[in-house]
Amino acid sequence: MGRIDKVSPFIVMDIVKESQKYKDTIHFEIGEPDLDASEKVYHALDKAIKEKKLHYTESLGLLELREKIAEFYAKKYRVDVSPDRILITCGTSGGFLIVYSILLNAGEKLALTDPGYPCYKNFSYLLDEVPILIPVDKSTDYQLTSEHLKAYTDIKAVQISSPSNPTGNIYSEEVLKELIQYCEEKDIYFISDEIYHGLVYDKREHTALEFSDKAIVVNGFSKYFCLPGLRLGWVILPKDLVRKAEIVMQNVFISAPTLSQYGALEAFDYEHLNNVTHTFKKRRDFLYSQLKDIFDIDVKPEGAFYIWANIEKYSNDSYRFSKELLEKIHVAVTPGIDFGKNNTHKYIRFAYTREISHLEEGVKRLKEYLL
Ligand SMILES: Cc1ncc(COP(=O)(O)O)c(C=O)c1O
Repeated sequence: MGRIDKVSPFIVMDIVKESQKYKDTIHFEIGEPDLDASEKVYHALDKAIKEKKLHYTESLGLLELREKIAEFYAKKYRVDVSPDRILITCGTSGGFLIVYSILLNAGEKLALTDPGYPCYKNFSYLLDEVPILIPVDKSTDYQLTSEHLKAYTDIKAVQISSPSNPTGNIYSEEVLKELIQYCEEKDIYFISDEIYHGLVYDKREHTALEFSDKAIVVNGFSKYFCLPGLRLGWVILPKDLVRKAEIVMQNVFISAPTLSQYGALEAFDYEHLNNVTHTFKKRRDFLYSQLKDIFDIDVKPEGAFYIWANIEKYSNDSYRFSKELLEKIHVAVTPGIDFGKNNTHKYIRFAYTREISHLEEGVKRLKEYLL
């Protein structure tokens, strides 16, 4: 099989295309925030255009932006990160490509969760690496634990996301700490996707850097900061890996988009960001309270903007069920099979990336059709 043949399509895109057939579709499938970013970002972008800031930046990214990110870690998590350990990337997506390319050689194993964000495994296929998809479920609140890892040999790197897509679960401090310690003992690289940090509703989230300087953290501006189109992320690396990452960045991307970097300088507007968190929390509270009467929900989601709902009462085929909801009641959801093979045919994912009145209409249609 060719390398590209292993890369799976994103089935939700079929649903998105289909959903455009109907004018009154309720959208629960979209995994990007509908909210605006801080006004200050748009002003900064305007100013950068007027000042013709359209040259490359240095490959690590604008020093000023890396300093802002370092400040964010000091304020939010009380961890000290030097700006020279930070690399600005083309989305977190560009970040994963760089991280996987410097940490693993062809044929080496990357441990991932199933269900999980599908692109991780596809990046590793593109680099001829071997993703190991480890089933997780409600017995550990969808967390990967050191116990899971003990069953595997020769793992070179572990990648988790917390809060996670598609389940919205957050790793507890204990599980995260233990997992990181286990990886350190076994010389396994630990990669933490923290892109949904900030969208956390019931407790405080922990960056992997609170537990180890060796952890590799990937984060970006697409979710909490409501700027997916900037295509901007960052990676925090241990000092000895920075030069390697910089070399890949120089060759593959030269630098992250310059205008976006100037815009992102103003993204750390905490008053605005608190409103973002508050808005998504209200939506989570509403949608969870409604959906739990219609579906079985294994774990109350504590972060991101997703609810992972078990559909077994109604169907054993998440793809057909999603198509049926779209065709019959014009409600678009994402079939679980997009996120792996571990019982994913029994689940669908709801995203609450629209205002409450839109979610209400969706719930009404689901109740009328299913109950
Ligand atoms: C868990 C997770 N990580 C990373 C990404 C990629 O985001 P971006 O490349 O916009 O930073 C997404 C997007 O949906 C995601 O859900």
